[in-house]
Amino acid sequence: MKIKGFTIHEKLAQLSQIPAVFIKSNTASNNTGEVSELGVTKQSLYNTGSVLNFYGADEMKEISDLCFENSTSKIPVIFMHDVIHGFKTIYPIPLALGGSFDINMIEEVSEMAAREAVLGGVQVTFAPMVDLVRDARWGRVMESTGEDPFLNGVFGKAQIRGYRRGGLLTCVKHFACYGQAEAGREYNTTDMSDNALYNFYLPAYKTCLEENPEMVMTSFNLLNGVPVNGRKDLLIDLLRKKWKYDGVLISDYNGVVEMVNHGYVSSHKECAEIAVNNQIDIEMYSTSYMRCVPELIKEKKIKTKTINALLKRVIALKEKANLFKDRYGKADAEKSKEIWLCDEHRELARKAAEKSIVLLKNNGVLPLSSDDYCLLGDRADDYDVLGSWACIGDKKDLVTVKEGLLNLTSKHSNDNAENVIMCIGETSDMSGEGSSKANLDINPDDVLLARKMKEQGKKVTAVVFAGRPLVLTELEQYCDAILYAWMLGVESGNAIANVLFGKVNPSAKLTMSFPRATGQCPIYYNHFSTGKGERDGNKSQIKNYCSCYQDIEKTPLYPFGYGLSYTTFELSNPVLSDETIKKDEKVVLKVLISNKGKVAGEEVVQLYIHDKYCSVVRPVKELKAFQKVFLKEGESKEISFDISESMLRYYLNPDKYISEVGEFEIMVSCDGLHFISLRLERI
Ligand code: NOJ
Repeated sequence: MKIKGFTIHEKLAQLSQIPAVFIKSNTASNNTGEVSELGVTKQSLYNTGSVLNFYGADEMKEISDLCFENSTSKIPVIFMHDVIHGFKTIYPIPLALGGSFDINMIEEVSEMAAREAVLGGVQVTFAPMVDLVRDARWGRVMESTGEDPFLNGVFGKAQIRGYRRGGLLTCVKHFACYGQAEAGREYNTTDMSDNALYNFYLPAYKTCLEENPEMVMTSFNLLNGVPVNGRKDLLIDLLRKKWKYDGVLISDYNGVVEMVNHGYVSSHKECAEIAVNNQIDIEMYSTSYMRCVPELIKEKKIKTKTINALLKRVIALKEKANLFKDRYGKADAEKSKEIWLCDEHRELARKAAEKSIVLLKNNGVLPLSSDDYCLLGDRADDYDVLGSWACIGDKKDLVTVKEGLLNLTSKHSNDNAENVIMCIGETSDMSGEGSSKANLDINPDDVLLARKMKEQGKKVTAVVFAGRPLVLTELEQYCDAILYAWMLGVESGNAIANVLFGKVNPSAKLTMSFPRATGQCPIYYNHFSTGKGERDGNKSQIKNYCSCYQDIEKTPLYPFGYGLSYTTFELSNPVLSDETIKKDEKVVLKVLISNKGKVAGEEVVQLYIHDKYCSVVRPVKELKAFQKVFLKEGESKEISFDISESMLRYYLNPDKYISEVGEFEIMVSCDGLHFISLRLERI
């Protein structure tokens, strides 16, 4: 579509995104109330380029028609929404799904979510979120896939492919470093070295660009004293020029004008000038473009050429969404009724939930062998555990643990049973955007209950719901088994029951470290070694001047990569095809994995690398590859990993991505606790 002939007001409206409620209230006879808050004319609203936060096909069509009929530009509106872990059928939260280490399943979940969303009128999802997260106090860790840059990139790409297959365009967010919010407090400052930025925080966004997402969203935060929306070095020099990203860049909600609150500039006009010149193509929610850019053009602070470049990208996005031929796309209220929550989607939701549950502790009590059980705890029959960002999901559609157990066993809870199942932890609203916590402890009443049960000689299994790692240190002492359920979506209860009774063998691993106490945050596996080495210690065995705490051990309670199974896996016979490697070469690692137990199961074999001595020191280990394998009882399989020289590279500085000659440690593990080590030399 040619962009000639549009007025500047029509063009700027295309570069603006407005919540549905404003467009609808625009139909009122006068432009008062909510609409006037935006400070724009009725006409601009009808010409608006994109809309967010609408509900279902009928509303989408109503808004699309309203705008099309009353607009002067006759450019169709594009509809965007946060489809994060399902649309109507809600799947496990991303932090849980990541723990499945199952790329195909993550892709499938995204595809099914997209199939429902397009029927509801959504054309673009604000996903995947690939922010690196290291601090469980931050409520949005639930929306990320954890603390590893490699995993976040792999899982982000899988989501993009899945959404695309299901008919949705995607938006990688939040560029950049939103996940490092200081002290885990939502929207807080981030401040970091180039080393941290290039080696840990930026890689996942970059990896996702390999799948050509249609959009990227800028983040709210300050980065090293400058709001991201104001950082030309990041948005133009890096994203556009170096990474050659030519898709649509959208701000986060109100983010453009929040540069005033940050204390960066004093007016919305300056915000608009900066954001447009940084090629933020769409301003979400705020309206500084529509209000201020005409004057900025007159003052020659913004060139018409720049506005045209932004507009071209928005038009290209709409062409890609096929809007000029078909404004509604697949939106269809009748068909929604058939597809939303259909058996196939529920089935996938259950499978995904089963694969996301992490078995943290088991002294043999699980799987339960008798169907006589006593069910306790606030979350036992709670519908409020769909997880934050549950889109148009309805908690009434969730199967609670109580219902799941009844479905499976046909038996009700019995107060006198020996096996106690305690369902505890968070509800949906305790994590997600704006839900940071300063204390990650489990509710003390629940710890007390576990203790009481243990003292009565019961076998205690805790099922913990949460959108983040919680501190389980005290609780753990009184539990025979712990299942970490995260927030599992609509099939929660059925999946949990299947795992409790051994119909399903748990296989998920943690993608975030679990602290022993909140004071350990941020805590993550890919940290550096201190000058005092890696000695450990606690109060009773404190060694002077080691990098420890006086009151607790410094290690996590449960590490990254950890998760038990009902069977026992063993790694053995590791062999490297060569002990040396040169530039652009590869070596092959072969290792045997055996299922030594009595049931079949899936295991995640994890490959880590440590560059032992380096010009800029490298973490004690970094995940570089993984394979999820299924083994029958007693079965063994040889698996192999290609280790290429490129896997040894890191950013010495922003312009130099290299591997250094010297010694590397190659490690394989199944649980993040025990490692087999081999030596490799880069020559
Ligand atoms: C704010 C959130 O930070 C972002 O992730 C989301 O996509 C937008 N709101 C739109 O809902």
